[in-house]
Amino acid sequence: MILDITVEVRTQELREAKYDAIMLGVISNELPSNEIFSAIDEWGDVKIEDLIKSGEIKGSFKEFTILHYAKTAFKRLIIMGLGNKEDYTLDRIRSISAKAARTLRRIGITRMAVLLSAFPDFKKEEVAQVISEGVILGLYKYDKNCMNGFKVNPFTDLLFIIDDQDEEKKVLDAAGKGFFIANGSNFTRDLTNTPANILSVERMVEIAVNEAEKANCEIEVLDYEELKKRKMEGIITIGKASDHKPALVHIKYRKGGADCPIISIVGKGVVFDSGGLHIKPGNTMDHMSYDMAGAASALGVLYMLYKLDTPVNVDIILPIAENSISGDAVRPGDVIRTYSGKYVEIVNTDAEGRLIMADAMTYAQEQGADVLMDIATLTGAVKKALGFVGTGVCTNNDNLNQYAIKASKYTEEKTWKLPIFKEFEIQLKSLYADVRNLGDGGAGSSVAALFLSYFVKDIPWIHFDIAGTSWIDELYTQYYHKPYLPKKGATGVGARLLYHMIYNITKDCNSDRKKLKKMLGDCSLFN
Ligand code: BES
Ligand code: MN
Ligand code: ZN
Repeated sequence: MILDITVEVRTQELREAKYDAIMLGVISNELPSNEIFSAIDEWGDVKIEDLIKSGEIKGSFKEFTILHYAKTAFKRLIIMGLGNKEDYTLDRIRSISAKAARTLRRIGITRMAVLLSAFPDFKKEEVAQVISEGVILGLYKYDKNCMNGFKVNPFTDLLFIIDDQDEEKKVLDAAGKGFFIANGSNFTRDLTNTPANILSVERMVEIAVNEAEKANCEIEVLDYEELKKRKMEGIITIGKASDHKPALVHIKYRKGGADCPIISIVGKGVVFDSGGLHIKPGNTMDHMSYDMAGAASALGVLYMLYKLDTPVNVDIILPIAENSISGDAVRPGDVIRTYSGKYVEIVNTDAEGRLIMADAMTYAQEQGADVLMDIATLTGAVKKALGFVGTGVCTNNDNLNQYAIKASKYTEEKTWKLPIFKEFEIQLKSLYADVRNLGDGGAGSSVAALFLSYFVKDIPWIHFDIAGTSWIDELYTQYYHKPYLPKKGATGVGARLLYHMIYNITKDCNSDRKKLKKMLGDCSLFN
């Protein structure tokens, strides 16, 4: 659900702020030095300072205290614990904002103000951005009726109270940025949560077309006939057994100017992964409608880009297919010619993602990509390596990975690099083709990435395996530490991460592809 909240920034006499609730933060074991608190203490029947001294307010992380006021325009304070000083980070602020908004929603409150000066040490605009993000991400709910256009949106207003009128524009811009970034993630979550009977191949294509139109972007959809004409056998072979024939979507976002590098995002869009003839056994097929989370993240990035009018050039390339079975399903042992010209022996029909990604990546480079990013729920093995916390990264360019690390620190969408060793290559040797689609010597995530690397020419490439991080079970939820994440279901991972990477890369090279080349340097695959 995309949240439609009014965000405002104002200097305001606190006492006059007509709001249902005002949010403040307190750090553990610290008396707020802020004079605002002492002013507030004049107006209420209890003094916050005394509550802190007596230990009723401890400031521990996610603690909340609601105090009611009768003599002021605002009705309540919600005092949020930020935890210990040494853990006081922007992500903590993001987290407690989510918790505050959810807590207020539960008691029917829809208008929240934030006293920005109660969050010291960071720039006001940094704080405003993460609060916006936390509130919007935290209020996310999968709306069972969202596909019918029905919206439930209890929360209506978010106000930032600032001390200095001169800060208004900066703070409002940042709050707006947080708002659209979080809603982009929520859009990704919606798509990822939607079951495959509703989010079919056709519907996914339709949504991509709609978004491209809203973004004022050129779009090309290669339908099944077109895929056949172009002999994109990777996508065709995986998608052909389904009644919903596969497609490839290409959206061109061009706000960066002619010299600005094109950053290409290829997102895996398997709307349902049954495994094919290597059918997934037992409950391992559960939730395989989230196998399009990579494509959903890419569309989330597009949402952020056009809402924020970000001056970059991005290609969004989505191979969309359903891995199903029928009399015409791909068989184990079939040999196909991928779009690149490389022949692949399909040893396992459940290793389908890499085949549709291979064709889409070839296409991305043909279309002029300067940097290639791919994002996919590619391997179950990444869960073994990094659990549900870390997104697996493989790359041929460590400078590019530095951008992922930086974005990962800011967004708290954790990434971790997995190596590609030359020794893995033997796993993909085939008697019948150039390469097999399956290794059998462990390191499944790295070997899958090695497979993809065969379809990357000499350009900076980074691969994100989000099979573990894009969907969460209640048992493993990070909600406890990060209340802006859902307790279960789609997390929306990747959209925020890639948005920040794209933004920073483009900024650092001054929107100049020649500088980008120097900046990122040579590519080398093996570790
Ligand atoms: N979509 C799956 C990967 C996956 C597994 C995503 C679990 C989310 C949760 C992918 O297409 C797949 O089936 N991979 C196989 C690869 C194997 C056959 C080499 C896997 O991980 O088991
Ligand atoms: Mn599969
Ligand atoms: Zn899959």
